[in-house]
Amino acid sequence: MPLTGTREMFARAYKEGYAVGAFNVNNMEIIQGIIQAATEEQAPLILQVSAGARKYAGQAYIRKLIEAALSESDLPIALHLDHGQDFDICKDCIDGGFTSVMIDGSHLSYEENIAVTKRVVAYAHDRGVVVEAELGRLAGVEDDVSSEHSIYTDPEQAVDFVQRTGCDSLAIAIGTSHGAYKFAGEAKLDFARLEKITNMLPDFPIVLHGASSVPQEFVQMANQYGGDIGSASGVPEDLLRKAATYGVCKINIDTDIRLAMTAVIRKYMAENPSHFDPRQYLTPARDAVKKMVQHKIRNVLGCSNKI
Ligand code: G3H
Ligand code: 13P
Ligand code: ZN
Repeated sequence: MPLTGTREMFARAYKEGYAVGAFNVNNMEIIQGIIQAATEEQAPLILQVSAGARKYAGQAYIRKLIEAALSESDLPIALHLDHGQDFDICKDCIDGGFTSVMIDGSHLSYEENIAVTKRVVAYAHDRGVVVEAELGRLAGVEDDVSSEHSIYTDPEQAVDFVQRTGCDSLAIAIGTSHGAYKFAGEAKLDFARLEKITNMLPDFPIVLHGASSVPQEFVQMANQYGGDIGSASGVPEDLLRKAATYGVCKINIDTDIRLAMTAVIRKYMAENPSHFDPRQYLTPARDAVKKMVQHKIRNVLGCSNKI
């Protein structure tokens, strides 16, 4: 099955109140674990590639790995650029066969964000590619994200931004953050703000970044076997499930993949000190990615059997 875009995926997700998982991919085992999970769940899928992933694996390698997965899969799969920092990286990915790109102008002024997003949208739409943009800024890991703060997305501005840029989906800031240390105190998302945005932009797909849940089983396992991940915490699964019923059609997960692999590899290494074949520890790591992603799809995102 060839790569697909996200338009139809999001239209159905919006209508039926679930979200499609957007998982960051960096190597073969991660791609395989995710594809195996989505295949068993018969779920639509977004595989996303960051600038860091392109640098680590090389765009050609990632493309070929995904091509191999597609040749064996009957799932609708979109290939998405995560956090494109400027027009050039978006153009490069569009020219390289991505079906979706994110232009992340959230570090720019409002007008500059609009200008670069419009430019990417014009280039992408001419080539049948969809564009995710970002408005507002996700809190830093150290920030108190449970309080009201100006970095949260302004609903009125969101309407203006979408109308002026023509973007296809919008990443918003309502309290999530990237990485493994999201909440110092109680985990909270600003659902009133999300609801306002959704009401003002009916049928428009909203994206949630920084949506890993940081499963404590992995934190404990990593720490038990020599890690020092400390008091990591993520977005509770029930809040993500709720967000998926409020117009959030795409939920981004990267940290949980990293944690699953690292915890299992640490355990394997500690229990098998004489082993040195990477296939021996990458096999349980790949299985852990599969199990974790399958759980998300089925119990958190709600997108099983939606192809
Ligand atoms: O939002 C960022 C993603 O987790 C990608 O992270 O830039 O380290 O690949 P990365
Ligand atoms: P996490 O760090 O919560 O996994 O977020 C990933 C993300 O938003 C990728 O764009
Ligand atoms: Zn992100």
